[in-house]
Amino acid sequence: MELEDSLFPLLREVKLGIDAEAVFEDADWCLLIGAKPRGPGMERRDLLDINGSLFQAQGRALNESASADCKVVVVGNPCNTNTLIAMTNAPRLNPRNFSALTRLDENRAKCQLAIKAGVFYNSVTNLCIWGNHSTTQVPDYSNARILGRPASEFIPDADWLEQKFTPAVQTRGGALIKKWGRSSAASTAVSIVDHIQSLITPTRPGDWFSMAVLSTNNPFGVKDGLVYSFPCVSDGTGSWRFAEGLNISPELRARMVKSEQELEDEKGCVGHLIGLEGAACLIREDTMLPGEM
Ligand code: LMR
Repeated sequence: MELEDSLFPLLREVKLGIDAEAVFEDADWCLLIGAKPRGPGMERRDLLDINGSLFQAQGRALNESASADCKVVVVGNPCNTNTLIAMTNAPRLNPRNFSALTRLDENRAKCQLAIKAGVFYNSVTNLCIWGNHSTTQVPDYSNARILGRPASEFIPDADWLEQKFTPAVQTRGGALIKKWGRSSAASTAVSIVDHIQSLITPTRPGDWFSMAVLSTNNPFGVKDGLVYSFPCVSDGTGSWRFAEGLNISPELRARMVKSEQELEDEKGCVGHLIGLEGAACLIREDTMLPGEM
């Protein structure tokens, strides 16, 4: 009812159903937001088992009935690995058409930098979130720009960037859950719209946006076969390519590798859902930040 009352300019019809194949029939865009949300005290990886099989079923249904060029955006957590599961179970679709939402993290990071620098958020550009939509994600302040200049010229406080900004962005989702007892909703919805806008609008020259996509053949040295968040650019047709011109310092690389490792671990834990039976499932304590929730 509220969808209808919102008079969305592109909304033609609301159809409800529980048969995924019927719901996805001939779909050009699918936003997979349905998943068990994280509650207080839960890490995203706790959801791997619960939600993984859901995304296997959705991938299979997409494979059966969605349009051949269907774009799939995964929001339900753990969204990177859920994307890998859905993509693997939909071999008829182009894997490049699958992405997971890290735009929420990018928006959170831009907001924190803007507040600190005393500028409006749209002055912050070139903000990349690397890695997993989890506490190992890397909000990259080193390549970020404010009013077209390196962010560090406006925020020379390296200690703040490292000790305050980075964990604030990494744990923002958990902080919201702790405060309200439920995960973010309004800001997530806004970031889904931003994500799609970024794919159907040509990216401003020199800028990029964050999106988790299949890492295979990426130019940043991240291992193949993971769904990892990268800086991306679009020509506005719904397709994308990796951005160029980023500087990856050894410190940034070390943080990127930690998130890569977490995604590899998650992949091992869902081996049975992606045809990798027997893969080792490891939970590394050092990728679970204490006190996140
Ligand atoms: C968020 O980042 O707010 C959402 O992905 C919810 C969560 O589990 O953190």
